[in-house]
Amino acid sequence: ASHNSMCYHDNSLVSASLEALIQHLVPTVDYYPDRSYVFTFLLSSRLFLHPYELMTRVCHLCVEQQRSGDALLDKIRFREVAPKLVQLLTEWTETFPYDFRDERMMRCLKDMTHHVARGDEYSWRAMQQMTQRLIKRLSALGQYEEAVAALNAVAMERPASLKSKQASGQRSDVLSVCDDPFILAQQLTHIELDRLSFIGPEEFIQTFAMKDPLENHKGFFRKRKTSNLEAYVNWFNRLSYLVATEICMPVKKKHRARIIEFFIDVAQECFNIGNFNSLMAIITGMNMSPVSRLKKTWSKVNTDKFEILEHQMDPSSNFSNYRTALRGATQRSETAHSSQEKIVIPFFSLLIKDIYFLNEGCASRLANGHINFEKLWELAKQVSEFLVWRQVICPFDRDRRILQYLVTTPVFSEDELHLASYESEGPENNMEKDSRRSLRWV
Ligand SMILES: *[C@@H]1O[C@H](CO)[C@@H](O)[C@H](O)[C@H]1NC(C)=O
Repeated sequence: ASHNSMCYHDNSLVSASLEALIQHLVPTVDYYPDRSYVFTFLLSSRLFLHPYELMTRVCHLCVEQQRSGDALLDKIRFREVAPKLVQLLTEWTETFPYDFRDERMMRCLKDMTHHVARGDEYSWRAMQQMTQRLIKRLSALGQYEEAVAALNAVAMERPASLKSKQASGQRSDVLSVCDDPFILAQQLTHIELDRLSFIGPEEFIQTFAMKDPLENHKGFFRKRKTSNLEAYVNWFNRLSYLVATEICMPVKKKHRARIIEFFIDVAQECFNIGNFNSLMAIITGMNMSPVSRLKKTWSKVNTDKFEILEHQMDPSSNFSNYRTALRGATQRSETAHSSQEKIVIPFFSLLIKDIYFLNEGCASRLANGHINFEKLWELAKQVSEFLVWRQVICPFDRDRRILQYLVTTPVFSEDELHLASYESEGPENNMEKDSRRSLRWV
């Protein structure tokens, strides 16, 4: 019966009822779901039901299907299916470990371990090892989240030295910490890859799940939400503000121009590395109005290189130049001989936007109540591309001092940037004069 409720086109699953999809995930003695199906359904099923509900139902079905009424036969059959269930749960815990931050998921995992232990020593041991790896991974995540929170707290402290531009001479500037654009780009790449590595694939989808009327576990999602994804977007904003702060802060025009030139070189190195996210953050910082209005400063800068980079990241025609460059970097990555050539760090906000519009642009359910699985394949395709990029190990040496500076040095707020900018080059027209009057150092 379940087969009747699954529709295929050219051998590819296009739609099915939720029940049939759940059944399709359940291993039996002579069936194990296709890997790409497992990933796609585990990723997107959260649009329709809570991961905990899915796990309970899959485990229950897997156990129940072995029941024949004959205790001995049941035991033999469960022994045959147990390794497959372990394999499924292993794929789940390794690809979506954050689902197991929910206690109920952990309890279900424990129950299954007990259940498996009755039949098969080997599977029981595999369950134990899987659980150990999962706990390790979750504790690394906890440490990462605490570390990011601590760094953000340091960055939020606003030392007196930043409160007025005259006094800010005491704050070291970026050039005193690192004056080599290639090294700085390498350290930015470390930060990007570190933060990317903690984003769970489900975070892209979880954002939509919260809006789904079928979602009735709002508490869980509100608590867990998409925090690593948000932390990563915050990093992008921080880098833009850092670039703008470094440029607006120096008292001397010559010094400001030197910093602009330095960041253009850093942006160029980011481009060469394939770090499009830092590249875009730097360009965004340079285009913030407190920076772009510094006409006298810019007149001292050779902007040829910057214009080429801006052209690469030009939003027109749906970022077509950038998309071409990203494809180039992806191809380089696929045939890479060194880990440096493997690096692809997408402009992240655009990736999120693409996935968002993909989700908004077509219905998750068809008129007959079936789930539109074509859409889920497409979501999975985009997210799995991200997973390949995420797993690159950053090959560069870490420089702790530079890294520390990049993530913790205080940056100006928007108002402070404007004030610093007016102190560098006074208001030019009445609008700027009004704007200058409305601002105060706080
Ligand atoms: C922009 O391009 C992406 C990738 O090709 C596509 O998924 C998206 O739908 C496009 N957006 C618009 C508004 O055309």
